[in-house]
Amino acid sequence: MPLAHDFVAELKDKVDLYDLVNPYVQLKKSGSSWVGLSPFSQEKTPSFYVHPDKGFFKCFSSGEKGDALTFVQKMENLSFMEAIEFLSERFNIPLRFEHGSSRGPLTKSINSELYALHELVTDWFSHNLRSGSQEGQVALEYWKNERRFDMETAEEFRIGYSPVDRFALGKYLRSKKIPPEILQKAGLFNKDLQRGEFVSRFCGRLMIPIREKIGRVCAFTARKLSVTPEWGDKKAPKYVNSPETNIFKKGELLFNHDLANKAVSEKTNFLLVEGQLDAIRCWVEGFKTVVAPQGTALGDNQAMLLQKSNPRGVQCLLDGDDAGKKAAFDYIPIFLKAGISARFSILPTGTDPDQILLDQGNSGLQSILDQGISPIEYAIRYKLEDIPDPTPSDRKKVSEFIFKSLAQVSSLVEREDHLGELSRQLGVSIENVKRDFRQFSQSHRPYAQRRSNSEKIPSNQGSVRLTTAEDDLLFVLLHDNRVASPLAHIFDPSWLDLKVPSGRVLAKLLAETKADGPVEPNRIEEFLEDEDERKAYQNHLYQEVDEADRESFPRIANQCLHALFLRSYKHRERVILKNLSNSEQTPEIVENLRQELIQIRKSLSSPPTLISSSLDNISHAQN
Ligand code: UTP
Ligand code: MN
Repeated sequence: MPLAHDFVAELKDKVDLYDLVNPYVQLKKSGSSWVGLSPFSQEKTPSFYVHPDKGFFKCFSSGEKGDALTFVQKMENLSFMEAIEFLSERFNIPLRFEHGSSRGPLTKSINSELYALHELVTDWFSHNLRSGSQEGQVALEYWKNERRFDMETAEEFRIGYSPVDRFALGKYLRSKKIPPEILQKAGLFNKDLQRGEFVSRFCGRLMIPIREKIGRVCAFTARKLSVTPEWGDKKAPKYVNSPETNIFKKGELLFNHDLANKAVSEKTNFLLVEGQLDAIRCWVEGFKTVVAPQGTALGDNQAMLLQKSNPRGVQCLLDGDDAGKKAAFDYIPIFLKAGISARFSILPTGTDPDQILLDQGNSGLQSILDQGISPIEYAIRYKLEDIPDPTPSDRKKVSEFIFKSLAQVSSLVEREDHLGELSRQLGVSIENVKRDFRQFSQSHRPYAQRRSNSEKIPSNQGSVRLTTAEDDLLFVLLHDNRVASPLAHIFDPSWLDLKVPSGRVLAKLLAETKADGPVEPNRIEEFLEDEDERKAYQNHLYQEVDEADRESFPRIANQCLHALFLRSYKHRERVILKNLSNSEQTPEIVENLRQELIQIRKSLSSPPTLISSSLDNISHAQN
């Protein structure tokens, strides 16, 4: 039965766009509307406007606009019908069907089935914790006595218990008529059935639900208890986590992010800890902006999630052991790249935030946080830690580690700030630090430029290559506006490798140039389609260029043009030769292949060239 004809209008009317958008985007009042950082692009200046009274949003950076339904379709990747269902559930507006029927033909999407299943399972686990069973009692005592958490916290975080019986969860869900196809996709069971029954992944464990950005349970992490069964002499791991599923991508969410996001503001920091129980303890003790990665190191996507909330910064609580130090060194480039101001606090070895809060309370942890240091201070302190009397070359090593991260910082203002800090911390003049950074960037920038004094032609074979010919050519095009137009007219896009992002950016740039004439470098971003393309584009755009090198740009462009042309034709030549060696070809095909081979060899003997005079005639105006 179809939806009532006026239901969509009713839904849009009843959903408050502010409430809908708020969990995804930190919104600030701006006149009669609200503004925040676009959830569709990686901007740093807010250009995403929400007008709850008019029921629409508009994003000036990505051009996206629409109403509540469009918004969830995009954010949750849903079809129109799925988006209706999503809003109806989230805002408790029952679906209405024609003729007053309450049951309709809407089939639920797999994802919403998976969320519904996790909801059911969370309730079941949490019931098991409180049911008074002997096993449940063990878990409850662990929670209360050993971990010293209270029941209110168990409620808030929906803590539960999964029974030792491996079949219990499967049986329960089958009794609830959950289809086996959904159970197979849930990440709650082992891959193989046993005796036709679903076998739980989590047996005899304390269950901690993991919620995604708007608070839906999408996975679990499960702590070992004294009742956890061990098979043979194999020790059961301390934690067992849900595997990745349709609704659980480890690198794309953070534990407690939904609650922390509500608490954070531009005046407060996120607090980043390692473990989920550490996060819960911090929350209980008043650190409401706490988040934790999922047992893995923090990744770029997670850093972007934090950045989108526009916090003052992120404070990281790290273990004092070697693993903690390694984590910190991994975090440094991630925070610098994401433009997040970070502070690192090192915990005494052998303890963790949970323990510190239990032993010393809120003020104990606060004083550790107050001693937090910047990533640059951290790198200097801990890279030089074991060297009693660092030499200039030791210092150089530290700078190079930092330079490597700074090379990825797209904001020049931020880069300057960091270089300034590095100069102060190392006690080296800012001029020298900048000169070293320039030198570092030069020796690490695209291959073609460094090679500019030699005549070697870029090729995909042989010598060690740091960049592809696509990279080099893109670099030149972005920094020399003499090249694009003449190139666009002799270049065949099929020569490009579209698997590499710089190849795709080049293809688009050349197509635009051919159609509409030269494109301003800062307009290029408009037609890039994904993050990889944007990254490739920005990496090349923000490379520093020495004036002296500019002279060689047309020549480099020519070398790249040759290399790409040769690569493509040589490849085609090899394919033809291979086909010709196949004795089963018909005489006709053999003849065609021969003809093509002759053409190819002819082309190979006269590769296309950018005529230098046409380049010289064009003014030397640079961007
Ligand atoms: P820790 O071993 O430091 O655990 O691992 P913890 O959080 O202090 O745990 P408790 O206090 O003993 O219960 C830190 C994090 O690494 C992941 C978990 O996310 C854990 O919180 N981890 C650890 C696993 O995923 N699997 C493991 O077997 C161990
Ligand atoms: Mn712990």
